[in-house]
Order: sequence, then C-alpha cells, then structure tokens
Amino acid sequence: MLAVENLTKKYGKFLAVNQLSLQIPKGHIFGFVGPNGAGKTTTMKIVAGLMRPTSGRVLIDGIDVTKNVNKVREKIGYMPDFFGVYDDLKVDEYLDFYCAAYQIPVGQRKKIIDQLLELVDLAHKRQSYVDSLSRGMKQRLCLARSLVHNPSLLILDEPASGLDPRARIEMKEILKELKNMGKTILISSHILPELAELCTSIGIVENGKIIAAGNVDEIMLQSSNSKMLKIKVLSGADTAVKIIKEQPAVENIIRNTDSIEFGFNGSEEETAKILYHLVNHGVEVTFFGEVQKNLEDVFMKITKGVATDAHQN
Ligand SMILES: Nc1ncnc2c1ncn2[C@@H]1O[C@H](COP(=O)(O)OP(=O)(O)O)[C@@H](O)[C@H]1O
Ligand SMILES: [Mg+2]
Repeated sequence: MLAVENLTKKYGKFLAVNQLSLQIPKGHIFGFVGPNGAGKTTTMKIVAGLMRPTSGRVLIDGIDVTKNVNKVREKIGYMPDFFGVYDDLKVDEYLDFYCAAYQIPVGQRKKIIDQLLELVDLAHKRQSYVDSLSRGMKQRLCLARSLVHNPSLLILDEPASGLDPRARIEMKEILKELKNMGKTILISSHILPELAELCTSIGIVENGKIIAAGNVDEIMLQSSNSKMLKIKVLSGADTAVKIIKEQPAVENIIRNTDSIEFGFNGSEEETAKILYHLVNHGVEVTFFGEVQKNLEDVFMKITKGVATDAHQN
C-alpha cells in the first residue's frame, strides 16, 4: 500500500530525513517511533503529498506521490500533529466544511458525518462549537475530518500526544476500530509501548534514519530492560519453547527459523536453570547465550523525548 524509498529532506543544509525507506502492506499498522526532532512529521508530510522531498520517492498503491498528488489525495487521510483554531464553527459544520473540500455531494454528507461522529464518539457534541471541546475531543474530531472521503491509507501524526490517560485510551479504541475496518495506517509516537498493542510492525527513527524495524515483539524485546537470550537446538524446538514459556522472568519469545530468542530478567542461577531444564527434557542444545541488544540507547532517548514533550505541554 505504501512504499517510501530512500527519502531525503533537507531544510537548507540541515538533513531532517536521511535516505529513509519503509514499506506498509495493505491492512497493516506501522508505528513510527522516535524522539522529538527525529524526522517523523517531515516524513509524514511528504507521504501525504504536502511537502516535496529533496530526493527519493513515495509510492501509494504504486502511484508516485510527488508526480500525481491529485490522484493519490483521495486515498490518503492525514491527521496533522498540530491543527488550527476555528472560531464560530460547530462540530457538524466543521466536518461539512471538510466534506465540501473533498467535493462530497451535499446529499451524502449527513450520513457520512453521522457515521464519523459515532465512530469518534462525538455524536452528542455535533452542535457544540469546536473551540469549546476538550483537547481529546478536538483530536478525535481532527481524526474524523481526515476520514470524510473514506481513505484507505491513514497518516496519523502523534494522534495521542498531549492527552491525559483516559483520552489516550479512548483514542486507542478508535484506532483499533479503524484497524478492524481494514485501513492501512502509518502512525507516529515518541512512546514505544503505546504503539505496541496496536501496530503490526514498528520502525524506530532517529536523526532522519530508520535504525531498527521489525515486528512488535522483536522491537519490544530489544528495547526492554531485560537481557535477551538466544538458543539454538538440533531437535526439540517445540519442547524448548514450551519449557521457556513456563520459566519465570521470561518475556516475548520469538521463534526464528534457526533459533529461539526471548527476553529474560531473572538471575544467573535462573538462567542456568533454563539450560538445565532444556537438556533434562531431551532438547539438543547447540547454542545458549546472551545476545547484544542495540536498541537500549535509542530507547533511553525515546524515554527522554517523553519527558521533553511533557514539559512542552
Ligand atoms: N520547516 C522547517 N525548517 C527547518 N527545520 C525544520 C523544519 N521543520 C522541521 N525542521 C527540523 O527538522 C527536524 C525534524 O523535524 P520533524 O520532522 O518535525 O521531527 P519529529 O516529527 O520527529 O519531531 C527537527 O530538527 C526540526 O527542527
Ligand atoms: Mg512531529
């Protein structure tokens, strides 16, 4: 659905996005995680066709965005990280305005607006002024507005940022619903665990580059505080996984074709016990050891990013 190829964006001499590539298959949710200033917003604006890259390209459904912005616009729903103030506009008028912008015939608008208000849980606020809504409600309205033309690809730039825990959960529920509707989603956040539940895969971006990408378990494991153990076996992989699962302090087991990896925050004695159990159950172990994690530094930075952002808000 979306392919970003060697995307580069310079602001003057400053390199904000540096040869960044990513792919999102149809129906997948890709979490774009990184500290403030990593280049997430810049990338998303380019993907949405709102900014031209310095080099590289973006394909949506095989169509080059920079060459055919008008063709892909109908496929894209973009929720910016920052949205303006709308004096004297009621919630339903606001959505009607966006329907008009997408040239949706007047006769179809009421039904679309009703459905969207239902989806984002704002039906009771349709006659309220936009400026009177809480931040969480405004953000949900902004999400609704990005959906008026029923796009298949959603680009959501930190939709949960600045929200209190309750509003975050409400937002997350709506995003899950969009996922169930089969939308393809590129969503950014500077908080890794927040995206884990929702996303099919995650890319960690720093200084305009993706420094790690993969499925959620892999990334979570690499960025957690526990150490990562890896085993290789000649036979008995099923048994091995079963035994490992039963051990305390084990998390996120990943089964690769030729190895099993898992997070572990137990003691040295407990580590030894795992090996003992494996061998004792007839698993032919050829390798058992700790794997170096390379995401810890990044994770620390991402965590710091949270602190910075909280300060700003
Ligand atoms: N219009 C701009 N002009 C100059 N520098 C910019 C502009 N927009 C963003 N930047 C810089 O580019 C970098 C990436 O910004 P951004 O894409 O907003 O990152 P993120 O969304 O990950 O926080 C930051 O260092 C930011 O200061
Ligand atoms: Mg941003």
